[in-house]
Amino acid sequence: MLENVEEPDPVVRVRGLRMRYGSTDVLRGLDFDVRAGEVVTLLGPNGAGKSTTIEILEGFRERSAGEVRVLGVDPARGDERWRSEIGMVLQSWRDHGKWKVRELLAHLGAHYARFSEPGRRRPIDTDELLATVGLADRRDQRIASLSGGQRRRLDVAIGIVGRPRLLFLDEPTAGFDPEARRDFHDLVHRLADDEATTILLTTHDLAEAERLADRILILAAGRIVADGSADQLARRVAGRSEIRWTRGGERFVHSTDDSVAFLRELLGAPGEEIHELEVRRASLEDTYMAMVHQHEDGPLPGRTRVEGVPA
Ligand SMILES: Nc1ncnc2c1ncn2[C@@H]1O[C@H](COP(=O)(O)OP(=O)(O)OP(=O)(O)O)[C@@H](O)[C@H]1O
Ligand SMILES: [Mg+2]
Repeated sequence: MLENVEEPDPVVRVRGLRMRYGSTDVLRGLDFDVRAGEVVTLLGPNGAGKSTTIEILEGFRERSAGEVRVLGVDPARGDERWRSEIGMVLQSWRDHGKWKVRELLAHLGAHYARFSEPGRRRPIDTDELLATVGLADRRDQRIASLSGGQRRRLDVAIGIVGRPRLLFLDEPTAGFDPEARRDFHDLVHRLADDEATTILLTTHDLAEAERLADRILILAAGRIVADGSADQLARRVAGRSEIRWTRGGERFVHSTDDSVAFLRELLGAPGEEIHELEVRRASLEDTYMAMVHQHEDGPLPGRTRVEGVPA
């Protein structure tokens, strides 16, 4: 018999969130959820309000209006235990320049020890963590002398040292070299799969968003203008596809709204044989650009909800 199964409460629940700096409305009524175990990417142009949103969720910034629940608690009233469940990597780096890498991690980690539970050892062992973020050989170096990317790796280590249930990452991979980036992607997958960590991150790297996110939110003109998986978002944008082919040694490119009809015609037409046929559907970048321009340039329409994504 079917029971009335209730969805568990989302880990993050935001309704009508507004933020005004002086006389400027940055957030004009945000609505979104992040469910347990999800990896969600928040995209949006510079100044859209991504860091503002994340800082409100972390309890660092007081909102102007709206309802916010993070792990069931209003972040403006989170206590120490609540705080211990949240890991964060801020966009701008707080200075601990005189500390040595290992010293700082051990110091910050010690704070979580009293929240340790059977089966959930907290903090993560310092040396294990140093190896995870690729800083083992820097353990006794002063933080002030780390390179930009190394400092960012340390930020990530600080974010996860307490084995948080919920992790906020504000542009975590800014300054990462390609290998550090790939290691970081593996780490996010591992945290999500093995530790069931719920993750909300921002990035300007759309390939990264696509690789990491179960769901993508696009913030533009003060609202969430799109919410769905990368595939769902790509399907939303009036689907212009790009078709490329070679015929008689010459390369051709054609852009069309109806790739099937165009291909039928192309392949059915007499002439030399066609080689290297390629059909490329709208990418996440195309979708992102279309969404942002549609909402930032025009009047403010309501949010575009992607079909098949529950509220
Ligand atoms: N304390 C503040 N006082 C006044 N304006 C602020 C303050 N903090 C942020 N802003 C403004 O609010 C807007 C949103 O800033 P926010 O840092 O949230 O953007 P963002 O989406 O994180 O951008 P980026 O991609 O550049 O990191 C910006 O126009 C910024 O100048
Ligand atoms: Mg920001």
